[in-house]
Amino acid sequence: VKASVIGAGGYVGGELMRLVLAHPGLDLVQATSRRHRGTAAGGVHPNLHHAGLRFTDPARLEPVDVAFVALPPGPPPELRERVDRAARIVVDLGPDFRDPATGYATGLPELYRESLRRASRISVPGCMATAATLAVHPLAAAGLVEPDLVVDARTGSSGAGAEPTAAGHHPERGHALRVYKPAGHRHEREIARMCGVRARMTVTAVPLVRGVQTVVHARTVRPVTRSDVMDAYRAAYAGEPFIRLVTRRSGVHRLPDPQFLSGGNFVDIGFAVDDDGRRVVAVAALDNLVKGAAGGAVQSLNAALGLPERTGLEFPGLHPA
Ligand SMILES: NC(=O)c1ccc[n+]([C@@H]2O[C@H](COP(=O)([O-])OP(=O)(O)OC[C@H]3O[C@@H](n4cnc5c(N)ncnc54)[C@H](OP(=O)(O)O)[C@@H]3O)[C@@H](O)[C@H]2O)c1
Repeated sequence: VKASVIGAGGYVGGELMRLVLAHPGLDLVQATSRRHRGTAAGGVHPNLHHAGLRFTDPARLEPVDVAFVALPPGPPPELRERVDRAARIVVDLGPDFRDPATGYATGLPELYRESLRRASRISVPGCMATAATLAVHPLAAAGLVEPDLVVDARTGSSGAGAEPTAAGHHPERGHALRVYKPAGHRHEREIARMCGVRARMTVTAVPLVRGVQTVVHARTVRPVTRSDVMDAYRAAYAGEPFIRLVTRRSGVHRLPDPQFLSGGNFVDIGFAVDDDGRRVVAVAALDNLVKGAAGGAVQSLNAALGLPERTGLEFPGLHPA
């Protein structure tokens, strides 16, 4: 299956290249970057020094079976048209096609596997929306929690992309706990659409490069026990290749921490229940560039192509990170 990456000079594009190059069923034939055209992949993404590929201009696109599109929001319409003409399947990583009214299937196989089978247009949800949704959906579907909840989201600096900004400058960002979006983040709408609940989200920039952690505070409709919550997660995620339930009662690593997920496609989910059973605190962690973007895209493509969803995505993360 011939694949291209459009926007390959960015952080998501670099991760797409890494995953596509290692995927046994995909052949990377083109990676575009305007700024870096003519440069070898390793000159921009040094983990890809082994890849014998140079960036090309997005003005000339090769015909491919699948194009992964990792562009900033609102790319020029003529480029989108060129992508649509060049590729049989398009997997979009930006926010422009996340509303199902666009006709794109939602690239979250855990919830939308059936609509992904044989899909030719796929849009991957936002990284924080993915983490929060995977933590919330089983609780909402089981009718355990009120449909109005709070999401405290933390994100690493790679979430803002490769383009330098004042807020991302190391002296400003390196040790920051900057609450950059206390209310109204666009991922609130994505969570609401996917889970059928109102999600009030606060986003904080934390001193990580990779990683998203969402801490959900959900009031329960009746007093619940740990077993009620565990049963809901187990029922929802039995057999899911990339969801791990992490709920240890002792030790250092009792709840999900994104540092151990770097580079992998896993989502770790854990939880605690208040003594009176009136609140569930659900924690999810993932790598924003993998399960929150490039890995979610490849997993969705695997589902669309009828391949095992794990194909090319087995890397488990590192410890110590
Ligand atoms: N970073 C994350 O954690 C994350 C997670 C989930 C989703 N996303 C979404 O994924 C998309 C890419 O994010 P990113 O973090 O990888 O951004 P990025 O690092 O800024 O990369 C964007 C890439 O697109 C290219 N580009 C920009 N404008 C273009 C245009 N008009 N025509 C052609 N190419 C253009 C860039 O420049 P060159 O062509 O000069 O190389 C670059 O290669 C965004 O929509 C973002 O919201 C990001």
